[in-house]
Amino acid sequence: MKHLLKLGDLTREEILDLLGLADQLKFERRNNIPHPLLTGKTLGMIFQKSSTRTRVSFEAGMYQLGGNALFLSSRDLQIGRGEPVQDTARVLSRYLDAIMIRTYEQAEVEALAEYGSIPIINGLTDYAHPCQVLADLQTIREYKGTLAGRKLAFIGDGNNMANSLIVGGIKTGMSVAIGCPKGYLPDADIIKWAHENGDLTVTEDIGEAASGADAVYTDVWASMGMEEEAEQRRRDFAGYQVNTKLMTYAKPDAIVLHCLPAHRGEEITDEIIEKYQSSIFDEAENRLHAQKAVLVRVMKKD
Ligand code: CP
Ligand code: NVA
Repeated sequence: MKHLLKLGDLTREEILDLLGLADQLKFERRNNIPHPLLTGKTLGMIFQKSSTRTRVSFEAGMYQLGGNALFLSSRDLQIGRGEPVQDTARVLSRYLDAIMIRTYEQAEVEALAEYGSIPIINGLTDYAHPCQVLADLQTIREYKGTLAGRKLAFIGDGNNMANSLIVGGIKTGMSVAIGCPKGYLPDADIIKWAHENGDLTVTEDIGEAASGADAVYTDVWASMGMEEEAEQRRRDFAGYQVNTKLMTYAKPDAIVLHCLPAHRGEEITDEIIEKYQSSIFDEAENRLHAQKAVLVRVMKKD
């Protein structure tokens, strides 16, 4: 595995290998077993958007693996003043061992990979959030034992999370249902790919989407960069909420997942976050373990 640009680039075997390594690294961390697999390596982390989980879990993860992480805000980098991504990629490749980038355009992440000579990890774009979904799959497997044959329901905006959950879910043999309003569908190419490669339902009926689900997932109605649309979206997404009533459609032992940050009272109720806090915060913790697996697979070549 050279980069992690999007889950569509990985085979089912590569995804399962990452999840296995994530479980092992979680065990080692929980049991204070040192795992300095990346001694002397440096990760650069470029952020063009805010972050709590991604920034802290990547930075802590690199230290736990024996390496270093540099937080590079685009406000301070020359890239924020218009230095071309091609040049940034070539220069940073001379100093660093890998780059994690959070930005808007997927094309920018792909360009870093094309022009740089070191591994690139997508820490969220408007199109995809692969690191989050690896942690989500790890969490579902922990709670449910298996992924293949399980049903994952996503309620809300057909955004970066929906796109990556469809790909990650289908690649690991889950059936995926998306409950979203008209006009807010996931990426058309991803929907087409999923219909050809697995079991995907896209519906405006959230009860139908959640019906028989093993895991019910939601995310904010207005993602980062869409702040100006927030009011319109509040109207368009009214009713697309994970609440006690919706959970009656899911399996009785279903878990609830949210990538966080959550807008309590919008896409999810306060009550549901508190009731399902065990799975939601295990999911947040698993960002650390899943990303450490990614860092090891892209950087450790011996
Ligand atoms: N879920 C997630 O990526 O969180 P942050 O925006 O805090 O990194
Ligand atoms: N869809 C959200 C995910 C945040 C982790 C966003 O892009 O803001």
